[in-house]
Amino acid sequence: MSTEQWAEVDTYLVEKFIDEDHALQSARESSGETLFPGIDVTPNMGAFLGMLVQITASTRILEIGTLAGYSAIWMARSAGPGAQVVTCELEKTNADVAQKNIERAGLADRVHVMLGAAADSMDALISQGAEPFDLVFIDADKKSNPHYLDAAVQLSRPGTVIIIDNTVRSGGVVDASSHDPDIIGTRRLMDMISADSRLTATALQTVGAKGWDGFTLVRVT
Ligand code: DHB
Ligand code: MG
Repeated sequence: MSTEQWAEVDTYLVEKFIDEDHALQSARESSGETLFPGIDVTPNMGAFLGMLVQITASTRILEIGTLAGYSAIWMARSAGPGAQVVTCELEKTNADVAQKNIERAGLADRVHVMLGAAADSMDALISQGAEPFDLVFIDADKKSNPHYLDAAVQLSRPGTVIIIDNTVRSGGVVDASSHDPDIIGTRRLMDMISADSRLTATALQTVGAKGWDGFTLVRVT
């Protein structure tokens, strides 16, 4: 199987199931204006996150890694009016692109972009005694995933769902001797989840337009 075939199937599935309006399409296309073009979630993954929000009836959502705001728009729309999405972004260039997309989607009242290092933003939320979140989507620099998980659990309640993107990395996750900080961070994340009796988890491998990867789904008990 090749990446071309995986991408072709992704395109087929998107044509079948995903009906992006102008705001979503513009947000996805504007990933090209960010510092990291092409790493936003795919439309199928955006719809999956939206369904997860609805299945869990989440109204307080925390995202780590805003990029162009595409996934935040999916989740905020699915959560409905009155919901709150807090999304953390390190890079001002990306945050500015995202803010425009969020406004174009008419979601400025329910999506708050926190500019700065996500670790600092999460620590600030913890020390402010922020209400727990219902769902946390972690999709930023992979080397910091251990810190993000630890902070996400502190911002959780029993039943909170935490989903971490890109935890397979073309199979790199099984390379115990890797010197890649992203792989080291991902493996440490997996060890932390595995060792934490408060967390139940599963992980799924995915193939598609972005190659071979996967995500890890955690539930706080
Ligand atoms: C990368 C980051 C992502 O969040 C993603 O979905 C794919 C790739 C990356 O940093 O390479
Ligand atoms: Mg990702």
